[in-house]
Amino acid sequence: MIVAIDGPAASGKGTLARRLAAHYGLPHLDSGLLYRAVAHHVAARGGDLHDPEAATQAARALDAATLGDPALRGRHAGEGASIVSAHPGVRAALLDFQRSFAATPPGAVIDGRDIGTVICPDAEVKIFVTASAEERARRRASELAGRGEPVDQAAILEDIRRRDERDTTRAVAPLKAADDAVTLDTTNLDAEAAFRAALAIVEGNPKRR
Ligand code: DC
Repeated sequence: MIVAIDGPAASGKGTLARRLAAHYGLPHLDSGLLYRAVAHHVAARGGDLHDPEAATQAARALDAATLGDPALRGRHAGEGASIVSAHPGVRAALLDFQRSFAATPPGAVIDGRDIGTVICPDAEVKIFVTASAEERARRRASELAGRGEPVDQAAILEDIRRRDERDTTRAVAPLKAADDAVTLDTTNLDAEAAFRAALAIVEGNPKRR
């Protein structure tokens, strides 16, 4: 079974994907980490994130073993990821890795922006997770605070709005719900309620094997 979970920054899709993966005994891939790793790699070498060549080279050279680096989870990597992910060469270089991950039995839960639309258009289950920008900023702030990072709530909300704008308006694989995705709005749901709602979507899906 392949479960595709897409949605904007800090919508809770990562937590949901992890929990669904554990529940069904499936491997989980946070595809955002791939783009974060590319941005991190370019920036660490003093490169320009807006340069498609530098970013595409970094994507081709990506070592999946480095995806556990905690630096990738910070604000800067997320912002950088949003920039490098707009380069078609970067997306092309990361496509095979994601598709092979999904195609390896017993399947996978993958979260990102274009999993249901581009990476796994035939996924048995597609969930599009959303929440208001304010609620997402609140969640991101408490996540950063929990990791001991400085928190500026207004700056975080601005970041989220900028990333929404960039992720939804880019020419290649923009953030959008697949036609056959079920939308799950988590604005008024806590993590537990969101998980139960996602489970109900998976269980109720006729394509599920
Ligand atoms: O999910 P995240 O916040 O880790 O993603 C960081 C950025 O990476 C996001 O702003 C856009 C990009 N991204 C993407 O373009 N496609 C994906 N499948 C996942 C992330």
